Amino acid sequence: MTIPIFDDALMTDPHGRYAQLRGAGPIHETTTPDGEAVWVITSYAEARAALADPRLSLNKANARTRNSYQSSMPPELDAHLLNMDPPDHTRLRRLVSKAFTPRRMADLRPRIETLADELLDAAPAGPNIDLMDVLANPLPMNVICELLGIPADRRRDFREWTNTLLSPAPGAAMDSRTAMRSMYRYLVEIIRAKREEPTDDLLSAMIQARDEHDGLTESELVSVTFLILFAGYDNAVHLIGNTITALLLHPEQLDAVRHGTLAIRDVIEETLRADPPFPLGVRRFALEDLTIAGTVVPAGGRIWISIISANSDEAQFPSPRTFDPTRTPAHLAFGHGIHYCLGAPLARLEAEIAVETLLRRSPELRMTVACEDVQWWPSFHKHGLRSLPISR
Ligand code: HEM
Repeated sequence: MTIPIFDDALMTDPHGRYAQLRGAGPIHETTTPDGEAVWVITSYAEARAALADPRLSLNKANARTRNSYQSSMPPELDAHLLNMDPPDHTRLRRLVSKAFTPRRMADLRPRIETLADELLDAAPAGPNIDLMDVLANPLPMNVICELLGIPADRRRDFREWTNTLLSPAPGAAMDSRTAMRSMYRYLVEIIRAKREEPTDDLLSAMIQARDEHDGLTESELVSVTFLILFAGYDNAVHLIGNTITALLLHPEQLDAVRHGTLAIRDVIEETLRADPPFPLGVRRFALEDLTIAGTVVPAGGRIWISIISANSDEAQFPSPRTFDPTRTPAHLAFGHGIHYCLGAPLARLEAEIAVETLLRRSPELRMTVACEDVQWWPSFHKHGLRSLPISR
């Protein structure tokens, strides 16, 4: 039976709404906001199994019907990891991983520390500062530009294009297309320049990555660069915002972090479990008729895996709405299986440095709105704050 899921309640109270749905079962047939049939998985066990199930494809070509809702990026930017299955995905991920090394991520630490300090130097002190504006939003964009090797004089353009592309404003489609074209042209141009004169960054390393004789094609390079931007920017912004919010809402844990008895990393992991910035995984398509927890999904059927719901499944996490950084959660915030997030170490590092720097420099840190007045984005696809008013 089809039940409505994508309603206002899912945007305003995702935890409450998904708890109801889990009570009704682990998988639910429904329709997307533009009328497409979709099966939504809400339990931990089924979500984890689905994320690693080779019978579920990420390639849109395997969809039974086509529509535009959340079908990821425009066609010229489709040659990326989250639209591919093995063997194409295996080859591309191996090449990208050669450039995306843990050492490259760790080497970024001092730069991220400097960037966080510079942002807080420039931020006003006192009451009513929007932490999203002064730290959580700009830090990940600066880090991605450093990582990719976007020169300082082009970062303002880069940030403007990205914000336009991510803007949920109605009627922004035209601006989005213009921003997309400008960014596409810019990326093609910078890839050509780095091919001629490599520098020490991820983009140059991806250009140089080779398997036998085969490297990344031009369209793969541009598409993967876009993916890094889309997968890496907004999610990292909201991991920072959600972690700081969690600490401000739990003053005893904030004290424990300040006294060194609670590790920031543990607070970040519990935030990833309890308030993951990416609440719905990338869509999958059934490659054959399959049965999930007694429900038949036909070949070509579209499946969405609710990460935020799986992470609050009481069968896996007792008292899931209790924010408890001492659990050792096997959460699904970064996915699971062959598409496990390549940027997970970087996202954790950015959040850790953002929190560390803010606490060190703001001994009087507190939230200046009541917790029920904290404004979340009304969205099915992102779980993060519009603004976070603080005093420091
Ligand atoms: C808190 C921040 C982040 C979250 C919550 C997050 C979440 C995820 C999730 C859930 C997936 C798997 C999607 C699926 O299987 O349906 C994924 C994949 C991916 N993420 Fe992240 N991500 C974050 C940060 C980043 C960053 C900073 C980067 C890069 C700089 C990045 C790059 C990627 C890439 C390239 C993939 C595709 C991997 C593949 O298909 O093999 N992510 N991410």
